[in-house]
Amino acid sequence: MWRIAQPVNNSSSTTAPFAPRLLAWFEQHGRHDLPWQQDKTPYRVWLSEIMLQQTQVQTVIPYFLRFVAQYPTVEQLAAASEDEVLHLWTGLGYYARARNLHRAARCIVADHGGVFPADVETLEQLPGIGRSTAGAIASLAMDVRAAILDGNVKRVLARHDAVAGWPGSAKTLAELWRLAELYTPEQRVADYNQGMMDLGATLCTRQNPRCEHCPVSGTCLARKRSEQHLFPGRKPPRTLPERETHFLVFRRPDGAVLLHKRPGAGIWGGLWCFPEATDPEQPPAALAQVFESETGQRTRLDPIQHSFSHYRLTILPVMISIEQTPERIAEVDSVRWVTPGGEIPLGLPAPVARLLAALAQTR
Ligand code: ADE
Repeated sequence: MWRIAQPVNNSSSTTAPFAPRLLAWFEQHGRHDLPWQQDKTPYRVWLSEIMLQQTQVQTVIPYFLRFVAQYPTVEQLAAASEDEVLHLWTGLGYYARARNLHRAARCIVADHGGVFPADVETLEQLPGIGRSTAGAIASLAMDVRAAILDGNVKRVLARHDAVAGWPGSAKTLAELWRLAELYTPEQRVADYNQGMMDLGATLCTRQNPRCEHCPVSGTCLARKRSEQHLFPGRKPPRTLPERETHFLVFRRPDGAVLLHKRPGAGIWGGLWCFPEATDPEQPPAALAQVFESETGQRTRLDPIQHSFSHYRLTILPVMISIEQTPERIAEVDSVRWVTPGGEIPLGLPAPVARLLAALAQTR
């Protein structure tokens, strides 16, 4: 009898649950010879995790070795002075970590009889230990089932499940924690968590992930969509502060308007601009003298929005019709009368050019 051939899917790369694939990869390709993986104790694991919070493995190694040589036990660390500890930390940076480390050592000795708590909640009470570090200490050192979510793990999970959003936002973070908890196995948690960190550090890198070697690429949604680069989502641009100013558009009966050259420093330095005022009833000091007798008709024009890298400016133009050029204006070098719509051979900021173009339409 003929059978129609079915596509065969016996590949464990897509059918096996997440953790077994990760664990099999870790055995072969994970890191097994880091100093804190030898002679594993909660004290050594805790110390390494604090050092690794903001620092690369290769930088941490010599500091870790010096630290455990100087303070082989948590009691010895607790008995040291803060100055000694900070001195040994010199060069690692983020010194709050060292101060918290020292305070936590004293807590462990004073409140826990020198024994590290084995549960995440109690570990999290100690200075410098957040949820992920607590999970790492409990799992790596004591094989307690606890999830971790450091930067590397966030990237792996965000890609694998195509979790949109920036991990700094509460909603995205909650979803990543949900997945971290979901995939963490009951057995071999230490290997699993170390494997997740290693996968993020070595294959599932921010740039150019090497998906062809990844044990979970068969079920990775970001890879399926070729959107690895979109995960994790970026921090949204911060909302810029808003500022407001008035452009004073002094207009003669022949339609010419007044520009002045801005001083060299500051925004639009050296460009030609309408006189600016925070209060349109109060022209800028230098022009106030020139226009002190002007009581021309004032008309508000449409606002103009302009974005700088560090703030957003709303420009409220006010047109002031004047009957004749004040005599003193001729004496001032830094002002020019220009005709909107005509050739203006001057450097103009974009919103000034836009306003001149709008004025040309309204004559
Ligand atoms: N980063 C944080 N914890 C780590 C660990 N245990 N191994 C390697 N990198 C890490």
